[in-house]
Amino acid sequence: MIKHTPPMGWNSWNTFGEDIHEQLILETADCMVGSGLKDLGYEYLVIDDCWSLKERDRDGRLVADPKKFPRGMKALAEDVHAKGLKFGMYSCAGNLTCAGYPGSYEHEFADAATFAEWGVDFLKYDYCYHSNIIHGMYLYRRMGLALKNCGREILFSACSWGIDGTPEWIRETGANMWRSTGDIFDTWESVKSLTEQQQKMLPYGGVGCFNDMDMLVVGMYGKGNVGLTGLNDTQYKTHFSIWALFGSPLMIGCDVRNMTEATKTILSNRELIAINQDEDCSQVISLCPPQQPPEIKCYARMLSNGDLALGIFNFGESKQLARVNLDEVALPESTGKTLYLHDVWSGEETAVKNGTFLHDIDGYDCLVYRARVIDR
Ligand code: GLA
Repeated sequence: MIKHTPPMGWNSWNTFGEDIHEQLILETADCMVGSGLKDLGYEYLVIDDCWSLKERDRDGRLVADPKKFPRGMKALAEDVHAKGLKFGMYSCAGNLTCAGYPGSYEHEFADAATFAEWGVDFLKYDYCYHSNIIHGMYLYRRMGLALKNCGREILFSACSWGIDGTPEWIRETGANMWRSTGDIFDTWESVKSLTEQQQKMLPYGGVGCFNDMDMLVVGMYGKGNVGLTGLNDTQYKTHFSIWALFGSPLMIGCDVRNMTEATKTILSNRELIAINQDEDCSQVISLCPPQQPPEIKCYARMLSNGDLALGIFNFGESKQLARVNLDEVALPESTGKTLYLHDVWSGEETAVKNGTFLHDIDGYDCLVYRARVIDR
């Protein structure tokens, strides 16, 4: 059964790009289990672009590159399954994938059957080199239909970057998640820009089809395929907090075989994962109290037990005073209620007094709370 909360796992693209092979996948699988990430919910191991040969075989079937995957994908999927993980792969709605390998256009049903035969549990479906004549809606619907008819339950991860009206038609394609942003890079500017891009997409997410803000760059420190300047640990903590609070799928993009302690701590924050995985998958709302410095962004989300998740993010480099007015989270004085805040990073607890929460927040840092509604 595909879970009805945002998918979690690991994807090869951010760090490894085309440099993927069987040994990497097996070592990564071992680390996902050994580091405890699997037990925290990171269950899908996804091989992104560049896994196949440049040509299909004589019968028109996709072929795994024998230099990278000498035993083929079926054997690899079996090994990944044996470790208790799920196996994900990648294709594209166009003639070619973004890196120039064969795409699934006009091969949708055959490729879905191949993926099912190999034991694939997750398909990321990209949008490069797509037809200019057939609208993306039909291309994704085709693959959605092919997957529904392939005889195996395969999570459909659409990747059309939110363009061509994607949010308006993506749910009807059967997609379980959809890329609501452009590609991520390992820079603070990228994290900031994807957060901004996500703003207008917030109303479209929800149970069963999640807005995907792209794979995490936590722990890359500038190394690898999309690694540029890299982020510091405070910025990675803030990046992870935003993705988790916003209900994005949490797909790790770093080399989990060589994680720093800080990386592991960030990716393993149970309370944030619980917020991300909250069964209601409620919409995030943006809070804009007057007098807030422009670098500070605040968001809130209602959780299934009646708590609120509250995130305050400092996108600037200097310390700022952040504020949250309880009026904005529907708790004006007339309700007789206030919030009791539990900081999911420090564990500190405090009650909001007089309807306003004020707190200093360091540059690039964040405050994330699980907040309980209590009497004033
Ligand atoms: C696109 C996608 C990325 C990645 C690459 C692979 O850019 O958005 O996430 O899959 O293609 O080529």
